[in-house]
Amino acid sequence: MPSDPLSLLFPYGDWVRTQSHGSAYSLAQSGMPLPESSWLSLHAEQISGYPTAEVLPTLERRVGQLFGVAPERVLTTLGAHGAMDLCARHWLRAGQLAAVEAPAYQALPALLRRSGARTFSLQRTLDSGWVPDPQALADQARRSRHPLHLFLTNPHNPSGTVLDPDILKALALAIEPTGGVLVCNEVYMDFAQPDQRVHAATIVPRAVSISSLTKAYGLGALRTGWLILGEDLADQRVFLQDQALLSYGDPPTASLHASLAALERLPELLAPVRRVEAESRPHFLDWLRDSPSVLSTVPPFGIMAFPRVERVQDTLGLQALLAEEFDVDVVAGEHFGAPGHLRVGCAVPEATMVEGLKRLENGIRAWHERGR
Ligand SMILES: Cc1ncc(COP(=O)(O)O)c(C=O)c1O
Repeated sequence: MPSDPLSLLFPYGDWVRTQSHGSAYSLAQSGMPLPESSWLSLHAEQISGYPTAEVLPTLERRVGQLFGVAPERVLTTLGAHGAMDLCARHWLRAGQLAAVEAPAYQALPALLRRSGARTFSLQRTLDSGWVPDPQALADQARRSRHPLHLFLTNPHNPSGTVLDPDILKALALAIEPTGGVLVCNEVYMDFAQPDQRVHAATIVPRAVSISSLTKAYGLGALRTGWLILGEDLADQRVFLQDQALLSYGDPPTASLHASLAALERLPELLAPVRRVEAESRPHFLDWLRDSPSVLSTVPPFGIMAFPRVERVQDTLGLQALLAEEFDVDVVAGEHFGAPGHLRVGCAVPEATMVEGLKRLENGIRAWHERGR
């Protein structure tokens, strides 16, 4: 970590790489580990072939089928991060206001900052179930002389909260008069059962849904993500692709082939998630509901939550104490702009979860006993 982390655009990214999981009881992860991957083998021509000849259009057709949209509304990207970057480059303008949820995965406000846009923070609080108020966005939109675009996550990182279609539609409606676009990062949506999933781009004409193979499938190393354009945004695909071609060209052919193989076995790749749901998540939910140390919402699915820690403001300090003395990793709320909370995850084996939660409780108690 550089001496002045504030000089980085995205210091959280550096922290995740260098400091987030050195402990034996690591409850800091937001994604699944790499699954059994013996099916991941490629021929030479699947590595060195030209991507646009076949595999790229095939992959976009397949993603389109999975979302029930035409391939013209799909663009393959370098992970969900690549998709967010293209949207930011294409839609954000220096000096103009753009909206982003708060608390947020730090990359979202960082993209706004990098573009020179001014930021309107759309507040999400524990007390309102982490659900943003569309009226607050509408009030801001009414004052805007430019398109007001909104960047958010659904499910929400850090809280795991899932917005229902009515809220997404109300948020989109709030910015519609300005010509704004709803950019919805859905990288955590695949933890849900297929019939529970909500995709903004399939219900809102001016929304973009972003996702990837990283979180639920543990295949972040492939760097394959995509964006799905809402009905009224299909004509923007060529401009988003233009940004990608200028920046890095096409995604790597090898990765596209491996990703196509992954898309053919998605239910099978979710087996580790289902195991976590059956074995570790129940302990996690009991703790979120019953621990006197924390107050939390209980996400309907997924592997993380964002409890408020009773009577603790310096959660960065608490995070350090937990790692150093209790061998437990969690993510301090400060990383999301919300001190006083911890992001805790349950994507670990059951015995690790049970012991990790015990240590977490002991660590919070130690913090209080020391009068911190
Ligand atoms: C909201 C969000 N988007 C994207 C990513 C990374 O996704 P990808 O590997 O597809 O770029 C993360 C990782 O933590 C995330 O939390």
